[in-house]
Amino acid sequence: MSQSILFVCLGNICRSPAAEAVTRAFAQGRGVRVDSAGTSGWHIGEPPYGAMQAAARARGYDMSTLRARQFSTRDFGRFDMIVVMDDENRAEVEALRPAGDGTTVVLFTNFADVAGPFAGADHVPDPYYTRDFDGTLDLIEDCARGLIARL
Ligand code: 4NP
Repeated sequence: MSQSILFVCLGNICRSPAAEAVTRAFAQGRGVRVDSAGTSGWHIGEPPYGAMQAAARARGYDMSTLRARQFSTRDFGRFDMIVVMDDENRAEVEALRPAGDGTTVVLFTNFADVAGPFAGADHVPDPYYTRDFDGTLDLIEDCARGLIARL
């Protein structure tokens, strides 16, 4: 089944582009379209944050061609599922939902392995502030595995 997934965070330079790159790699050959966007317009046109790219590259994920864009209300019509990193992202996205639109908006951590180290996580902490880029990737890989398994 063809699926399209949009990952959303605040800046679109750390969490959501990493989620995009990891999910694209995990879903390769399965006809899944993935993209990412930020609720803010702070980094429009910029490549992913350097430290995020470096941590991802060390695991084989190339984020270098990605460019930040801002989430818009039109994204509701373009994707089957919108996956957010935290409750603030969810609120910003929901505020732009067109009347009558039924697109699923879900926290990425909903897909964390219930038997794994991230069971019960309720958001993806922002590495722009925590500086834990590897820990963020550990969580993103765990959630992406669960998401792909449920498509
Ligand atoms: P992201 O991280 O939402 O995971 O892309 C952030 C990146 C930049 C800023 C905030 C969050 N900023 O304030 O510029």
